[in-house]
Amino acid sequence: MAAMWSLIIALLLLLLPLVPSSSSAITLPLHGNVYPVGHYYVTMKIGNPPMPYFLDIDTGSNLTWLECKHPQLGCQHCTQHPKHPHYSPQLINLKVECNNKYCDALRKDLAGGNPICQHKKPHQCHYNIQYVDGTSDGVVSFDMISLGENGKSIAFGCGYSQQPQKETSPVDGVLGLGMGTVGFVPQLMLHKMITKNIIGHCLGKDGGGYLSFGEQFHLGGITWAPMRKYELFYSPGQASLHLNGQQIYKHGVNAVFDSGSTYTYIPARIYNPFVLKVQDMIGSSHREVHDDDLPHCWKFKSIHEVQRLFKPLSLQFHNKIAMHIPAMNYLIHTRSNNWCLAILNGTQIPDGDRRILIGDATMRDMLVIYDNQHGRLGWVHQPQCTRPHPASRL
Ligand SMILES: *[C@@H]1O[C@H](CO)[C@@H](O)[C@H](O)[C@H]1NC(C)=O
Ligand SMILES: *[C@@H]1O[C@H](CO)[C@@H](O)[C@H](O)[C@H]1NC(C)=O
Repeated sequence: MAAMWSLIIALLLLLLPLVPSSSSAITLPLHGNVYPVGHYYVTMKIGNPPMPYFLDIDTGSNLTWLECKHPQLGCQHCTQHPKHPHYSPQLINLKVECNNKYCDALRKDLAGGNPICQHKKPHQCHYNIQYVDGTSDGVVSFDMISLGENGKSIAFGCGYSQQPQKETSPVDGVLGLGMGTVGFVPQLMLHKMITKNIIGHCLGKDGGGYLSFGEQFHLGGITWAPMRKYELFYSPGQASLHLNGQQIYKHGVNAVFDSGSTYTYIPARIYNPFVLKVQDMIGSSHREVHDDDLPHCWKFKSIHEVQRLFKPLSLQFHNKIAMHIPAMNYLIHTRSNNWCLAILNGTQIPDGDRRILIGDATMRDMLVIYDNQHGRLGWVHQPQCTRPHPASRL
């Protein structure tokens, strides 16, 4: 019964208005890389007893969830050889009325496909998430997540069925850092672990880096752009792509930041002339070679040759705001010793003709700040992702 009450209290707390406390920040180390892992992730200890899980940091989705063995349904379609044994909550963790306010807010956050309560199981909060490359079905769980020494009761998804089913995956789930009202960061605020809804990530070029919450970065040289809500994503608005100062395509298109995407995708009408210009730039002495991992690749004698031939790219937003993309932020050195474009054809993803999706590859060695508190997005190059001096620490 005591457990029951703590759950109810946790639910109520989630719905209380926020009371700011002293300034605070949480910083977590990142693992993984763009290539060959394809994910940047944090380790979080979840459940009772707490077990470690790898969560992919995803600013393009709202819900935090992990693969899960539902006490009644089991793990219907889960990764066959997971990194860690599947999270297995008790029924009590999943007891969240479907018409409960939290569940309601979650449905609104996830949009599409989550319109009504499923009458079959009114005591659980079901959800369905659609990703570019699959779907996940689950129910909301309230359980302990520890950041540092003490755990907090946090709501997240117990994903018991994923399509397509994978054989292996470098991660156990997703840390949803989207703009949702019931996301991970708003919950940290409710627990007064942080006072500001600010997320920052620095994805190390050679892997690793850090993720931080609630931090005010007192760093020089940050470029700030007003945050525009574009459908589901964090967006600095319309952008045009320039190669070595030359505009590739005459119209702008909405750009969005999505740390859940390994590569950057641009619409085919921009991608086609871009690839032509790149081929032109490196000259006829270098023909494209085949690589199993990526579509547009070349061989070079040395990295110096690469740096000499590949000119910088930039994304230009309104009011002369720009993101500079050096060659190393749009190329990948593959295991076949080729240099390949880390910018891919938008035709490969849903809605890829309507937006520029700025993925991990482009954000490497850059601190990217999603400042929900002040409605702005910021970025600054940070070689090796060395930690800045935080305004304050937890
Ligand atoms: C995330 O939540 C926001 C705010 O409720 C919503 O507008 C957006 O559609 C959601 N995004 C996704 C990817 O579900
Ligand atoms: C992008 O995809 C479209 C459709 O598959 C294809 O016609 C086009 O050649 C591709 N562009 C490049 C540069 O690969």
